[in-house]
Amino acid sequence: MLLAKYPRRSYTHATTPIEKLPHLSKLLNGPSIYIKRDDLLGLAGGGNKTRKLEFLIADAIHQGADTIVTCGALQSNHCRLTLAAAVKEGLRCQLVLEEGVATPYDPDANGNNLLFKLLGAESIKVVPHGSDVIAEMHTLGEELATAGRKPYLIPIGGSNDLGSVGYVACAQEILQQTFETGLVLDDVVVASGSGGTQAGLIVGFTASSAPIKVHGINVSRPNETQILKITELVHQTASYLNISDNHLSTSVHCYDGYVGEGYTIPTQGMIEAVQMLARTEGILLDSVYTGKVMAGLIDLIRNGTFKKEDNVLFIHTGGSPSLYANHTLFNEDLFAL
Ligand SMILES: Cc1ncc(COP(=O)(O)O)c(C=O)c1O
Repeated sequence: MLLAKYPRRSYTHATTPIEKLPHLSKLLNGPSIYIKRDDLLGLAGGGNKTRKLEFLIADAIHQGADTIVTCGALQSNHCRLTLAAAVKEGLRCQLVLEEGVATPYDPDANGNNLLFKLLGAESIKVVPHGSDVIAEMHTLGEELATAGRKPYLIPIGGSNDLGSVGYVACAQEILQQTFETGLVLDDVVVASGSGGTQAGLIVGFTASSAPIKVHGINVSRPNETQILKITELVHQTASYLNISDNHLSTSVHCYDGYVGEGYTIPTQGMIEAVQMLARTEGILLDSVYTGKVMAGLIDLIRNGTFKKEDNVLFIHTGGSPSLYANHTLFNEDLFAL
């Protein structure tokens, strides 16, 4: 796969490290656990969207855009990073934010909300929970075009075929890193939300004939819809890259047992997992994505899905800036050494 032929901006200086988690591995008495530190990617605060934005923003620039429009939840990491990329490129950025089920917009909220203002979003449109945010974003795009601007719309989570190419590139990076260190990976565990991260990794590994199983831990949807969503995105991304379908026989693995009552709603497992990684390895996760994914990994180890001889890589997709919007969440100790 010649990814070099696709226009790309570069927002991170080097590859992100793969680190061994010796204390966590010992504590769980299961497989050897490694972490891919995509929380250390470039742009303000790091996280998985940076890889997608390298391709999406390059396309926006190629198309002559002057304004980036995107959408997400009130504490969207994707919106923070899209805004940061736009600032870096001298573009303007407008956001559409959807209120949560039980969380109305609080203009004074901390975390990503603070950063939207600090990074200078040109406008923030807040819509009630359940609104059609995609339609709202298109309306905004049309208004901007009517006003003579050149908007470029990025879908939720940056998860279209082009954005997913960022994680095809990440799969190549992981294969190169593990080749250099002699680490034979068996499994990757990653968040499965808007899907571009999981889909990109699946395409990247299968196109390189690397037998690494990608386990997606759902953060919002049940398996009935999530597996279909990821499968479609796998095929769209492969087709964008001209990879033939017979390279993509891999089935999609998703787990919906760790979402709890819904997207952004805390679970006991998430609290235990966030505290466990902080207190064993000194690494911060977040409550909406990586905390639930780590809860999934811990449970899959405890129930014997992963064996002692396996090498498992957890992808840290970022999100810790949102911790500061929720400072009472971790008052109760669910894990102590
Ligand atoms: C920190 C973090 N991790 C994981 C995800 C999920 O990634 P994806 O939307 O590609 O499934 C997101 C999406 O917003 C995120 O912000």
